[in-house]
Amino acid sequence: MCGIVGILGKNEVSPLILESLKRLEYRGYDSAGIATVNLGKLDRRRSVGKLLNLSDHLVSNPLSGKSGIGHTRWATHGAPTIVNSHPHQSGTSVAVVHNGIIENFNDLKSKLIAKGANFESETDTEVIAHLVHKFLESGMHPTDAVKETLPLLQGAFALCFLFSGEPDLMIAARQGSPLAIGYGNDEMFIGSDAIALSPLTNKISYLEEGDCAVIQRHSVKIFDQSDNLVERKINKIKPDQTRSSKDGFKHFMLKEIFEQPEALSRVITKYISADGKSITIKCSEMDLDKIEKITMVACGTAYLACATAKYWFEKFARIPVEVDIASEFRYREPPLTKDTLAIFVSQSGETADTLAALRYAKIHAKKVISIVNVSESSIARESDLAIPILAGPEISVASTKGFTNQLAVLAILALKIAAEQNQLSSPQLQTYLANLRYLPSLQNDVLDASPKIEKISRKLSKITNMLFLGRGVMHPLALEGALKLKEISYIHAEGFASGELKHGPIALIDNKVPVVVIAPTNDLFEKTISNMHEVMARDGKVIFVTDREGSEVASKGSWEIIEMPKITHLFAPIVYAIPMQLLAYYTAVTKGTDVDQPRNLAKSVTVE
Ligand code: AGP
Repeated sequence: MCGIVGILGKNEVSPLILESLKRLEYRGYDSAGIATVNLGKLDRRRSVGKLLNLSDHLVSNPLSGKSGIGHTRWATHGAPTIVNSHPHQSGTSVAVVHNGIIENFNDLKSKLIAKGANFESETDTEVIAHLVHKFLESGMHPTDAVKETLPLLQGAFALCFLFSGEPDLMIAARQGSPLAIGYGNDEMFIGSDAIALSPLTNKISYLEEGDCAVIQRHSVKIFDQSDNLVERKINKIKPDQTRSSKDGFKHFMLKEIFEQPEALSRVITKYISADGKSITIKCSEMDLDKIEKITMVACGTAYLACATAKYWFEKFARIPVEVDIASEFRYREPPLTKDTLAIFVSQSGETADTLAALRYAKIHAKKVISIVNVSESSIARESDLAIPILAGPEISVASTKGFTNQLAVLAILALKIAAEQNQLSSPQLQTYLANLRYLPSLQNDVLDASPKIEKISRKLSKITNMLFLGRGVMHPLALEGALKLKEISYIHAEGFASGELKHGPIALIDNKVPVVVIAPTNDLFEKTISNMHEVMARDGKVIFVTDREGSEVASKGSWEIIEMPKITHLFAPIVYAIPMQLLAYYTAVTKGTDVDQPRNLAKSVTVE
């Protein structure tokens, strides 16, 4: 994780770097720092905690200079302290900011210490500064010093260097972690993503694996892994990649929850024809009619979107589906056949494990499709086909509209594959598409019930454990409800398939444990209700999430009821996700936690 910015500017750069770091704070907020070249010398300011602290620090201790690098940290090696904050320096010759992990840093560090180096931090990054410094001391030009250093580093990194006596030079390198160059007029920029650079320029190029870029105000030279001078395409950033504001909502998370009907409508309009008869995802080269197996891979909430979609692919297309967590998939080397379609789901499009898994599948599977929110992301760029989920920028660490739009795109893709494989007749397809088109208005109905959910959440702030139960297509949603709650309220929560309860988890039930039972009146309703009664018989406090019919027949004995609109079909999770999000949100607000930037987390997980 971590966010990186670099600017060779016309004016003072500290305020601009700070502004760009704010846009990268979703990547980590354990500490932050900026280094500049001022009157030929390196100078830096660093602060622990959120950027606000660095901003305050800069007010009392201004930092001058027209070239600089900045960093917002998600700690990997070493606690969030000033000495562990970036930029790191060795002596006064070089400063570096780093996103990623140097896996062989212990070995490098021991060798450097043996040669007399003094380390001030516990970070892996500081070895990079020492190595470059050592080569500079031997008389090398900064470019050569960096090029000598890079092959010594194992692991994933995005780096940006600044040198004393070189106010017109930044060097950037990428291996495994994303990095973009921004082109200005007599100015140049480096950023972890386009969002960071969007107020500074709309012209961006992305470094590729192994690239090293030597940047001056009027020139950029990019060298590939084999040290050949190469060109990388310059793209124009679209306005939707810019960071948006809270628009009057207390938190980005709440705003994003309320944006769901609009975001879902965008997916429906884009991927379902206006007459509601066909699917307009362009995928003629994907040979969808020849697929015999599907493998889906992702992390966290995106993984749970895949787990939900498994039900759809298997039901509609009758194709066997495997769903895997990316960090497991990438090292398991699962046998993939040439008739397997591999689907990768990632809001950010930069999740390191998902990207690594994708690279494995590119070699072994028939085709690779990614479902992403950021169209220019690494995952999108490396896929045979990238389908954008059109959720708009998701700033809150907890994914909400990203999840429901991932579900919607996966549902449409499942129907598309089913149609290509002749598993659905036209009338059947049209019925399913009509069901989907109706969902935004049902989401709106649920949002109208948010005051009721807020009231229930006030009763949850003191609890320490909570369970979520669901069956069939609602099982992954039970897991998502638990993930959302623990992520932002720090309450321990677990989700289970309701049928699994009696195989162990039922031992957890007592009168202090609220149990959310997700039960629309579908074909599995009666089964779920039996499990709910097993909870009630043991004094569990049931929060019953169901429709009016369900509530009329089975609510007796529930602690609370959240009434949902009637949805019997398989797409119900796209609507039932909202009460899970609101429960987590209002509970976190009542507890007073940092909703948008919960502790220990970051939005884009670019380390494994
Ligand atoms: C969601 O609330 C989480 N913050 C997290 O699980 C997230 O979904 C996961 O890190 C995957 O991220 P991605 O979609 O950007 O790949």
